[in-house]
Amino acid sequence: MSNTFHTTTAPDSLRRRVRIFAMTFSTLLGCAPSIAQSPPPAATSDVQVSQRVEALLTQMTLQEKIGQLTQIGPALVPPENWQPEDLIRKGEAGSVLWTIDSALIKKWQEIAVKESRLKIPLLFGFDVIHGYKNVFPEPVGMAASWDPAMVERAQAMAAHEASVSGINWTFGPMVDIARDSRWGRMVEGAGEDPYLGAAMARAQVLGFQGPRLGTPNRVLGSVKHFAGYGAADGGRDYDSCYIPEELFRNVYLRPFKAAIDAGVGTVMSAYMCLNDVPASGNKWLLQDVLRRDLGFSGFVVSDSYAVQSLIAHGYARDPEDASYRGLTAGVNVDMGSETYLRNVAKLVESGKVPVGLVDQLVREVLAVKIRMGLFEQPYGDLANKDTVLNDPVHRAATRVAAQRAIVLLRNENGSLPLKKTLGSIALIGPIADSTEDIKGSWTVEGGAAVSVLEGLRNKLPAAKINFVRGGDMQRLYPMPWEAREGKNAPALMPKAEMMHEVKKAVDAARDADTVVLVLGERANMSGEAASSATLVLGGNQQQLLEAVVATGKPVVLVLINGRPLDISWAAEHVPAIVEAWFPGTEGGNAIADVLFGDVNPGGKLPVSWPRIAGQSPTYYNHNYTQAHEDDPFFTSRYSDFTTAPLFPFGYGLSYTTFGFSNLALDQKTITADGTLRVSVDVENKGGVAGDEVVQLYIHQQAGSAAHPVRELKGFQRITLAPDEKKTVQFSLGRAELEFWSPESRSWVVEPEIFDVWVGGDSKAPLHAEFRVNQ
Ligand code: NOJ
Repeated sequence: MSNTFHTTTAPDSLRRRVRIFAMTFSTLLGCAPSIAQSPPPAATSDVQVSQRVEALLTQMTLQEKIGQLTQIGPALVPPENWQPEDLIRKGEAGSVLWTIDSALIKKWQEIAVKESRLKIPLLFGFDVIHGYKNVFPEPVGMAASWDPAMVERAQAMAAHEASVSGINWTFGPMVDIARDSRWGRMVEGAGEDPYLGAAMARAQVLGFQGPRLGTPNRVLGSVKHFAGYGAADGGRDYDSCYIPEELFRNVYLRPFKAAIDAGVGTVMSAYMCLNDVPASGNKWLLQDVLRRDLGFSGFVVSDSYAVQSLIAHGYARDPEDASYRGLTAGVNVDMGSETYLRNVAKLVESGKVPVGLVDQLVREVLAVKIRMGLFEQPYGDLANKDTVLNDPVHRAATRVAAQRAIVLLRNENGSLPLKKTLGSIALIGPIADSTEDIKGSWTVEGGAAVSVLEGLRNKLPAAKINFVRGGDMQRLYPMPWEAREGKNAPALMPKAEMMHEVKKAVDAARDADTVVLVLGERANMSGEAASSATLVLGGNQQQLLEAVVATGKPVVLVLINGRPLDISWAAEHVPAIVEAWFPGTEGGNAIADVLFGDVNPGGKLPVSWPRIAGQSPTYYNHNYTQAHEDDPFFTSRYSDFTTAPLFPFGYGLSYTTFGFSNLALDQKTITADGTLRVSVDVENKGGVAGDEVVQLYIHQQAGSAAHPVRELKGFQRITLAPDEKKTVQFSLGRAELEFWSPESRSWVVEPEIFDVWVGGDSKAPLHAEFRVNQ
């Protein structure tokens, strides 16, 4: 048994990981110890961390060790009856889930550091994934900005707000690749592409944690959900994922690798079965892939109750077996449950699990706490909480982020921007006045957002703005945690009332100079347990849309949603369509900024946009079939529908137009370790300044495996004044050209011909070729 943990560690990663606990650990288990990869704060060297960890460990009782592997949470009892103080005092809790009350956090931390025997501080974890009080766009929207530097700043502000409130651990970034719009959690990630996903993963880790653990005003990050969770069968949340290894490594793991390379301190193991083995009990995944191949050296936390859920999966026999499988797979911390707490001692006492295994799992937890500086500063800077949460710089940043996330999907005949001289606007839509839904899911400390209604009023104080709800939309089934409490989904507006609303909307449209129609999803319609079988506009929104358009008035459609919806009808009949995602606190102002031309939209889609749910999954980086895409007969296609998405990956319009020319490569051939420079001229050909996201795609023409028709391998968001021209440069080297070959089962750069395209979306026509020589 002493060999079950990390025994598959390869010599290379062994060397990498052997630095810190080398002596103790290798004597105990004969396998590799762990260290955080980022440089530690100056005062905390690897050796110091190791010494402090060992000093603590030798004093700990078994139950205290298991405490460090336990994250207590309120879900099994009504939160108001939850009394965890005894557990904390006894050292039987290492972290706390979902407590956001700053006073309570402080109190419990005081118990941990003053009253528990070893005074080990607690981690307080919460999902601060797109802001704390000041809410940024949901991550899919942040990805649509194609602006990692902005995303890093946003997450740094979110981290600061969380940390002054006492929360020192966020469950982000979520980096699951999402190719299927039916999957509700697409909203929490960066979309379908591994390269964009990796850039967003890196940016978010640096934002949350800073350049290293222990950076002041930041928090510990947790990259999730390891791994492959976005490939849920049928887009149904929590359902099984079947991902062949080559796809897993070439696509799904890349953003995780980026997060780990950026120093993320924790990894959250996923709920679902990956190729029939639950991710939170999957040794291959958590040891061979995570520790050995990706070089992760922090600690693994399960998703909430995922250890206990190993029983529900039909994998573990009972809670003891679930604990055994979780521990031996490499799950350090059991999230939100007491499964480890109640079972691990039995496993150790019966000899089934050696105490050395428990020790190593505890070491990895303690090392993170030490590196964070938690022992020196266990509390949030509560005295500054109000100042930080009300910092106008944070608030202003949410507006910029929301502006940069917006994607202009359609703009026929220059319908947008609207003129500020408009006398009257009919603002129509079930959530057009919402100050909550516009923030999306996972928001923490209150604070109403700016609705679209308020945003328009702020922009045009003198105009007549007539708001009509026009109907309603709701989930059909409640959230699972609400259902468990016996709650139903909120009732939909009665049909007669909806019809009356549509009539009011039509009247308002007729009376107005122009219509702004806001459609999409409520916050709880995208996110966890919010998959959609149809992607259709919920409630009576389609009927409302058609009725309003039938008035013949100019209509601008603004979408507030977390994933592509079926807007095929709108894409033919509505001249102007703006995708705002869930834009956050300043959402209404940001939308008004774009609608009236104070901001020129420059976001691009981080996902391909299917026309109907039946096209799912749809993604641009698929392989060729037996004939090339331009062959009208033998490509993969339906007999009754096009396979082409409504909008391609990387797509987005601007109030200006851009021209691309002079695609040049500095060499025609390179070696596998060489670097090629690619340059292209980009020119703003319109009358207003604007942003273009310059995107570079490649394709390997032949080799040991078939390759995607295109793969994103570089992008830059640039701003150009009218008539300005810039030369944009990219470099292509091993990192961009290598892939995991199913033939050699290793990472290779193959001597083949490659295509390169550069342009404004994944259909960019400007093309060149180069060759990699042996
Ligand atoms: C379950 C979700 O899957 C995960 O993303 C989240 O971080 C945890 N619950 C904790 O809230």
